[in-house]
Amino acid sequence: MAHVAATTGTRPLHPPGLRYYASRGGCASASPRAGICTRRRRREATLAVRAMAQMSTAAAAGLKEGIAGLYDESSGVWESIWGDHMHHGFYDAGVAASMSDHRRAQIRMIEEALAFAAVPADDPEKKPKSVVDVGCGIGGSSRYLANKYGAQCYGITLSPVQAERGNALAAEQGLSDKASFQVADALEQPFPDGQFDLVWSMESGEHMPDKRKFVSELARVAAPGARIIIVTWCHRNLEPSENSLKPDELNLLKRICDAYYLPDWCSPSDYVKIAKLLSLEDIRTADWSENVAPFWPAVIKSALTWKGLTSLLTSGWKTIRGALVMPLMIEGYNKGLIKFSIITCRKPEAA
Ligand SMILES: C[S@@+](CC[C@H](N)C(=O)[O-])C[C@H]1O[C@@H](n2cnc3c(N)ncnc32)[C@H](O)[C@@H]1O
Repeated sequence: MAHVAATTGTRPLHPPGLRYYASRGGCASASPRAGICTRRRRREATLAVRAMAQMSTAAAAGLKEGIAGLYDESSGVWESIWGDHMHHGFYDAGVAASMSDHRRAQIRMIEEALAFAAVPADDPEKKPKSVVDVGCGIGGSSRYLANKYGAQCYGITLSPVQAERGNALAAEQGLSDKASFQVADALEQPFPDGQFDLVWSMESGEHMPDKRKFVSELARVAAPGARIIIVTWCHRNLEPSENSLKPDELNLLKRICDAYYLPDWCSPSDYVKIAKLLSLEDIRTADWSENVAPFWPAVIKSALTWKGLTSLLTSGWKTIRGALVMPLMIEGYNKGLIKFSIITCRKPEAA
């Protein structure tokens, strides 16, 4: 994945220091000072690795802080206009949607994802009993799944405001014993191995700086035989002749990344590669970009209402900057650069 990140990424988390350390010196191996040079090179390489680790850690911490801040600031505005699902809606491709369709479309997104992944709904033995909602927002998916399956749902988010609101909504809806939310990192989940029979990530994967670690954590907390569902923003698959996205594509993604606190993007086929590397089974993907086409125009329309504008203006700079970038998402979809993707797979029974 380092290759993918380096070639298609939009905001490398890799520090620039390595070349500096690696290229200083000028020791020739035939020189009488070769031994001293080798030691110096080793020391420099160690320093370089340490510097890289420190800078990567700093970049990752900065990213997490930015994500938490964005959702702390914007979740209330979103909820007041759009409700408790902070994700795209699923629409019939090519059919115009009315404003009243959007909430239904968001619920449909959840149902389409469950259907695509063939999660059993009716069989009391097979339906999910414990669910982790990774990147849970204010818990819309968890409460929906808790109601649908009677499952125990645990949501994690980086945003303290979201976790608190998720728990408050669960209490209001009499679901405190079924759905709970906490602040935790998806890349270091606070759950034991093999706990969940449904692992759910609705539009959080795009925030993850290390996609392999992300999927491996999803797989770790999955019970043997459990279903993993990732619905996420990807960039298009590269052509066999390509090593990277085109400069104008990278530039467009970079502008989106800066506003939404996104690290490097990857393609659906990168997720498939990771899932295969982790020996996950029954890997399936679909491109739902056409099915989400009405979503961003609707969000922009709602932001331009009196309520939308006043809420935005009182929310804070991160939210306003996110709103200003919304047309770029539409541009990305129209260019075939952004792919709204579902990737699902199963942890092997024998794992
Ligand atoms: C677009 S919201 C989606 C929320 C929710 N899944 C929904 O559909 O309503 C993205 C969520 O991912 C969470 N997130 C991003 N990076 C995360 C990380 N490293 N660990 C945990 N949550 C993360 C954010 O805090 C936010 O709750």
